[in-house]
Amino acid sequence: MADQTTARILVASNRGPVSFSTAADGSLSLRRGGGGLVSGLSAIDDPNAVWVCAALGEADRAAARRSPDGRLDRAGFEVGGQAVRMLDLDPEVFDRAYNGVANSTLWFLHHMLYATPTSPAFDRRAGEQWAGFRAYNAAFAEALAAEAAPGAAVLVQDYHLTLVPELLRELRPDLRIGYFLHIPWAPADYFRLLPDDRAAAVLTGVLGADRAGFHTRRWAEAFADCCEQVLGATVDRADLSVTHRGRTTRLGVHALGADGEFLRERAHRPDVDQRLAALRQQVGDRRTIVRVDRTELSKNIVRGLQAYRHLLRTRPEWHDRVVHVAFAYPSRQDLAEYREYTAEVRRISEEINAEFGTARWQPLILQVEDDFARSLAAYRLADVALVNPIRDGMNLVAKEVPVVSDAGCALVLSREAGAWPELAEDAIGINPYDVLGTADALHRALGMPVAERTERTKRLAAAATALPPQQWFLDQLAELSA
Ligand code: G6P
Repeated sequence: MADQTTARILVASNRGPVSFSTAADGSLSLRRGGGGLVSGLSAIDDPNAVWVCAALGEADRAAARRSPDGRLDRAGFEVGGQAVRMLDLDPEVFDRAYNGVANSTLWFLHHMLYATPTSPAFDRRAGEQWAGFRAYNAAFAEALAAEAAPGAAVLVQDYHLTLVPELLRELRPDLRIGYFLHIPWAPADYFRLLPDDRAAAVLTGVLGADRAGFHTRRWAEAFADCCEQVLGATVDRADLSVTHRGRTTRLGVHALGADGEFLRERAHRPDVDQRLAALRQQVGDRRTIVRVDRTELSKNIVRGLQAYRHLLRTRPEWHDRVVHVAFAYPSRQDLAEYREYTAEVRRISEEINAEFGTARWQPLILQVEDDFARSLAAYRLADVALVNPIRDGMNLVAKEVPVVSDAGCALVLSREAGAWPELAEDAIGINPYDVLGTADALHRALGMPVAERTERTKRLAAAATALPPQQWFLDQLAELSA
């Protein structure tokens, strides 16, 4: 485990690679997280690497308090790998930063989810939340500054930590700082709905980095447009760089791919086989349309269900011949918008089964308990995968399904997903707002000949794994060192 101020590589993210829960006997048990960042980090072979993250619940906090300086040695928990430093933040500061600014403001802004005349509201409460967001970002910057060896490389992740690069540079000008955004960046006209001071703070926060990375050129260019229009910064579009107050930040495009090797192995373990057998029994010889998401507003689950309902209403030939398997896992339930959206997903699902279900056919299977093995089983089984986000930084489901699919799967994909440009040639593209268009795409996908599906899936899988997480991470590290 790294000593204080000797870390040569540091990663910072809100959600860390491990989380804790409290067992019945009061003991803490550790769970390793998944996702691209965790697999990417597995590429680092450096005992002096440290991952700084927030303690997200009571059990995390208890674990952080138990370890000296909040530093957890993953090896000590028999997981192996780098040291993790979990920040035990004031719960009110955390709530204001995570629920208030990160998930209610920045997430809504970059996914363009504000659609009513009364939201967002930048009132006194929003002012308090912003102060919490600043304090939360400052706590990360201070922890990183305390851990980093001279000249170390620091990779700051995502919209929660927007202010960290600038704050960290003030504390430690010797560090090489990279920033990566995993979500889309809003177009300049939309971005300007933030109050002027906050819009500027978000941009100069990121510009504190030497390099700022995005999943697609589209998001990188939107960021550059905002810097130009809001800050009056100089943008070099050929070089993809932004110069502001005499410093230049280079923008990079790194389209995170699926971890093919891990997924193929994981998808054939006995727990997945078991769930696949159970799903097969439920579905019978019918076709399946599969979707797997967090129950997230930007994932557009409600319009996806409306499209399926429209398909069944207008194309009775599919009655009793198709089942829609929708996995919608709980997310951000502290926010009223998410609770309401979850209720809406349940309501429309019940309506669909009530309208079309028969004694022998349940047209829709909605599951809300998170189960990774069952998701993989559904990926293997799917005839059609529906991925229809309003906007999405990347969307790894679109990349994972073709890798895991047993017999080829037609992919219906939103043109607003970051994954779209890489998968466009072999996916069926949709405008995510167009419910009738989505229903047509589902019909086309269900009718796609198996031979064509198989060929397309092979090409999709190759495109989806072009930049595996480990390489994605190493590329950014190399650029930062150059
Ligand atoms: C997105 C964000 C991640 C976040 C994840 C889950 O992918 O880019 O930073 O961790 O959603 O959201 P949560 O709020 O549960 O961490």
